[in-house]
Amino acid sequence: MPDSDSEVRTRPDWRPVCPVAELSGTDAVRLDVRPPVTVWNADGAFYATDDTCTHAESSLADGYLEDGVVECILHLATFCVRTGAALSAPATEPLATYPVRVTDDTVFVDLGARDETPGQQM
Ligand code: FES
Repeated sequence: MPDSDSEVRTRPDWRPVCPVAELSGTDAVRLDVRPPVTVWNADGAFYATDDTCTHAESSLADGYLEDGVVECILHLATFCVRTGAALSAPATEPLATYPVRVTDDTVFVDLGARDETPGQQM
């Protein structure tokens, strides 16, 4: 993680997502990058994961989020958005996660720090 807010604003891997107020009013904001990334609002805490379900090609931003768990709309697999862990079939592979930081009332995600290690349920 960067030490200062100015580092977040100036390092190219840290991408602005949206104002905090915008994410506070919704569950998810999808970034059209490769691979697509979704920033989640899990009860007021922000997390970022890959957007594409690891079972097939469904966007998880279109899913249903409750208590930090997103349910895929296609075959109903669930994932922890905090850790990326796959919690139920048919998905077995975790989602990659990314660091998130709020600076100057803007949500940033570090696209250069993609973490593919299997997450654990929190
Ligand atoms: S595409 Fe998500 S569970 Fe099948």
